[in-house]
Amino acid sequence: MIGRILKSGILFVNCVGLLLCSTVFAAGYDYQITAQKMTFSWKVDGANLNVKLSAPTKGWVGIGFNPSKEMKDAKYVLGYIKDGKAIISDEFGTGDTKHEAVEDLGGKSDVTLVGGSEEGGVTTLEFILPLVAQDTKGGKIDPAADTVVLLAYGPDHDGFKMKHKFRTKLTVNLATGKNK
Ligand code: HEM
Repeated sequence: MIGRILKSGILFVNCVGLLLCSTVFAAGYDYQITAQKMTFSWKVDGANLNVKLSAPTKGWVGIGFNPSKEMKDAKYVLGYIKDGKAIISDEFGTGDTKHEAVEDLGGKSDVTLVGGSEEGGVTTLEFILPLVAQDTKGGKIDPAADTVVLLAYGPDHDGFKMKHKFRTKLTVNLATGKNK
């Protein structure tokens, strides 16, 4: 399942099964994966990864990269919109089902917020993270290799504490868009 933006702006959709689709997509991003109703769009931009997440929730949306087991050791970025403002958190998987903000672990966030919105019950978040983490916790993403990507979103609640309503795990080559 490979999706790539066509320069002409034509929309190309490649769907297999009910759960997972790759879709060619919009301005600013090279690839997009849709898992149920959650979308992950990205562009590898030099030493950075530009990310857009979108999901049907008024609560948090999040992404995780390269766990060692379940949610452990992954780098996470979670965010929600409150009063029109995006609040994001850069986190690290400290246990199989636990993650903590890197700032609480003595590090400093290396994620740059680009923007976010909550419209019609859909939360969208855009941010940039370095492929080689600068926050002492996040590890390294190699776009040419397989990256395990966790996608999740929470219930309609502003905050980071509530467990996901939806979560999935994908293996993605970020350079080519191939995913499984
Ligand atoms: C916000 C607070 C969160 C809580 C309290 C939480 C809690 C849990 C718990 C209890 C499980 C094991 C039970 C189950 O499978 O449902 C789990 C699994 C999982 N979580 Fe979370 N989670 C949170 C955030 C996230 C985020 C942000 C992501 C990814 C972006 C994520 C991705 C996953 C995945 C992929 C699994 C399944 C792991 C596997 O079976 O290999 N979670 N989580």
